[in-house]
Amino acid sequence: MIPESFIQELLNRLDIVDVVDHLVPLKKAGANYQACCPFHNEKSPSFTVSPTKQFYHCFGCGAHGTAISFVMEYQGLGFVEAIEELAKTAGVSVPHEVSERRRSNEAPGVDLSELMQQSMNFYRSQLKQSELAIEYLKKRGLSGEIAARFGIGYAPASWQSLSAVFPDYQDKHLVQAGLVIEGDEGKRYDRFRDRIMFPIINQRMAVIGFGGRVLGAGEPKYLNSPETPLFEKGKELYGLPQARQAIREKDCVLVVEGYMDVVALAQHGVAYAVATLGTATTPEHVKKLLRQTSNVVFSFDGDAAGRKAAWRALENSLPLLADDKSLKFLFLPQGEDPDSYIRAQGKEAFENLLEEALPLSQFLVRELASRVDMQTQEGRAHLLQMAKPLLQQIGAPTLSLMLRKRLAELAGIEKGELEELYELRKVVKKPVAAPRASRQPASLERKLLRLLLYRPDLARNFDEETAGGLSEMTQAVIDFSRDATIASSAAVLEHFRESPLGKPLQEIAGEILQWGDDFDADGEFADTLVKLRENARKSRIDVLLAKSREQGLDAGEKNLLQLLLRGNVTVASES
Ligand code: UTP
Ligand code: MN
Repeated sequence: MIPESFIQELLNRLDIVDVVDHLVPLKKAGANYQACCPFHNEKSPSFTVSPTKQFYHCFGCGAHGTAISFVMEYQGLGFVEAIEELAKTAGVSVPHEVSERRRSNEAPGVDLSELMQQSMNFYRSQLKQSELAIEYLKKRGLSGEIAARFGIGYAPASWQSLSAVFPDYQDKHLVQAGLVIEGDEGKRYDRFRDRIMFPIINQRMAVIGFGGRVLGAGEPKYLNSPETPLFEKGKELYGLPQARQAIREKDCVLVVEGYMDVVALAQHGVAYAVATLGTATTPEHVKKLLRQTSNVVFSFDGDAAGRKAAWRALENSLPLLADDKSLKFLFLPQGEDPDSYIRAQGKEAFENLLEEALPLSQFLVRELASRVDMQTQEGRAHLLQMAKPLLQQIGAPTLSLMLRKRLAELAGIEKGELEELYELRKVVKKPVAAPRASRQPASLERKLLRLLLYRPDLARNFDEETAGGLSEMTQAVIDFSRDATIASSAAVLEHFRESPLGKPLQEIAGEILQWGDDFDADGEFADTLVKLRENARKSRIDVLLAKSREQGLDAGEKNLLQLLLRGNVTVASES
């Protein structure tokens, strides 16, 4: 979606030192910069940023990456979001379809989130002037500090109070932003009137929507912004920017159902909660949550509706499970929500409850078992049948294995039988690849990769003959570096980040971090190339000699062998 060349250009234009320093203050240490790692707890700094190589590496926890991955990890953004964020910093616009569409929806120069921001400020100022609204929030146990932290405001009761902020009340963008409604006969009025206002703020700190609650009884209890170019309900999580720091510290995120739950939990010191916006938990939600932390707890009411909502969340999470992630479900006692519970019982009682949240696997088994009569074979067969499509979606190998074991046990069959039933046991035996005669020793390849990552432009010096004897990994790096518009270390890392090469390359990146400016890359490379070619020559000789022993050589091969034995290495391969 985003052209590779743009990513290379962006990485080239940015300075990772600025990007990181802005969020995590850095100190110069030799050729590099250092800080205490933001991704794990430490007392002495092992988080290192290289200004020349434009990547970071933590020698403590192994976190590593480019400016792009830093913003993704640190701010919990998706790839595209991180690119957009960085492009904004760099003052360039991202050439991809989504932003094209977004731009064409908006008149030039009008930023809907600017209108939203101004409205939030207005509602906040109105709260200060409404005793009734202040009284309501106090009654619900909220302090001024928490109200300020969540930007809570008040929309006055009159029909066009926003005209105080927007003198051109006819501006169509007010309708587009969902702030103003155009009735029949073109009459316009504020969407939110006489309501407590909860601004919905995204991770880039833009106000993208509002939820407005009536002060007393009344329908609807909450009125929300409609879907707008800024606001997609199924993707957003209320309270995420406010919770981010606490989520990182606690290494856990709690997902609740209501605006008031998030705010009340924060009021009582449980700051790592976010809410879905009156919708079911979507896969986008789960993805976003798992980007923040590996431990997600969904909280639901203990009633039938709560269990149903929890099941939806489970279904939408299955494909995203991994063995190093934990998803749990917390069911509150009947009639309670997190707000009422923590207000009545306090933080400690609430966190104790949290400790006992049900792991996803247990919830899955328990829920399915509750739907059948486990005393009969028919019931147990039904259980297995219902579990089948669910298990097939689970990518996490260990968790999947344990669930199969558990289900087989419950149904009274062997695990192998269950797997056959589920058609899960299609163990495809890979044909054993014939060892390639021309394999280069691993240590030499490692050295080469270090050099290539240090100076990707060196890849241009490879002829097919020498490259042919290298591992697929090294060849892929050479191919990419040779063709890249701007072949920087960071571009290479970024390109392979999500691929199987990502991990090994990051390790290698850690190894070159300390190489100084005086490192003679050209000399080392020339040296390595000589060794590679010599190895290639020797192994080709071995192959030909072996063939001559076994089945003899034809004239061309004999000629080739002669050339090789004479030390000629650049002869073209026959095969
Ligand atoms: P709840 O009814 O559980 O709200 O709805 P709550 O947060 O506990 O509210 P209080 O405590 O009565 O103030 C949960 C969420 O569902 C959405 C809102 O996002 C709400 O926070 N909702 C609910 C609506 O969008 N509209 C409604 O009319 C009701
Ligand atoms: Mn409530």
